[in-house]
Amino acid sequence: MVNELKNIKQDILKHLYQAKGTTVSGVRLSDALDISRVAVWKHITALKESGVEIESCPKGYCLKAPDDLLHPFCFRPDIEKNIFHFQALNSTMDTARDLAKKNAPHLSVVIAENQTMGRGRLNRKWVSGKGGLWFTLILKPGTPPPLAYIYNFAASLSLSRSLKRLFDVDVSVKWPNDLLLNGKKLAGLLSEMETRGDMVEFINIGIGMNVNNHPQTDEPNAISLKDVLQKTVSRKLILETFLDDFKRRIHPLDRHQIIGLWKEQTSTIGSQVRIETLGDVFEGLAVDVDETGALVIQDTTGETKKIIYGDCFHT
Ligand code: BTN
Repeated sequence: MVNELKNIKQDILKHLYQAKGTTVSGVRLSDALDISRVAVWKHITALKESGVEIESCPKGYCLKAPDDLLHPFCFRPDIEKNIFHFQALNSTMDTARDLAKKNAPHLSVVIAENQTMGRGRLNRKWVSGKGGLWFTLILKPGTPPPLAYIYNFAASLSLSRSLKRLFDVDVSVKWPNDLLLNGKKLAGLLSEMETRGDMVEFINIGIGMNVNNHPQTDEPNAISLKDVLQKTVSRKLILETFLDDFKRRIHPLDRHQIIGLWKEQTSTIGSQVRIETLGDVFEGLAVDVDETGALVIQDTTGETKKIIYGDCFHT
């Protein structure tokens, strides 16, 4: 388990978390942790300043939305040991890369409450303020590079199925790996990998999901779960459900099944699309996604083309 909060602050937060939204007095905290009430107050102030939402009242302290907390101790023990939680990072991708190189285990999760330099596909900036779910999953699947693509498909599939199960929302996947809700972008995936010899050393899948934030200010074509459900939802529940589904999806790994199920969830096949790559633009009707994850499009002459990467717009 990794958490940047050390010792006393973490213990205070744990006590507040275990109180499940009820107020814990300063006296109780000071007795339990064997520190003065002034010290409790100072640590609480520092926690608040770092962005943790704690309410102070005459009777003590109370954690707002404890179910939404993403600190390691909030998760089941089998997940807790793989959680790396940070209040703020430049990008979870950078930290995940460092951790992956330093022996972070397969299925580690690097979470940030805020990213100052979050990035999206094709080098775009990814605005990642408070309330969203911003994390990178570290995978060490021991696979050759040509087969790495399937993990992205498995991740977007698991995410979309988890959201449908949890909230009964009409989520679809847009090739290659965006999640759409009511036709707007709910989540995006970005993957980076490193190879050693002819094997993948790690694949890091970054997932940015608009949950309790309001992304439209920066991205008119984006939407959050809160916008649609009109209530705050638990990011922890989403992450835990996703991780459980994803683990089942990749152990054992069945590529044909993943692509087959993914195709059932996509709104891209059957849509007119425009694909922008770094140098080209392709337009046509999306007719299939093949076993390698390539998008098959058909132009007006009936000729088909396979696209292996790019930004896809449903037109
Ligand atoms: C895209 O749709 O362009 C992909 C967006 C990926 C954003 C996530 S947020 C967590 C992780 N850290 C980043 O800097 N980017 C990914």
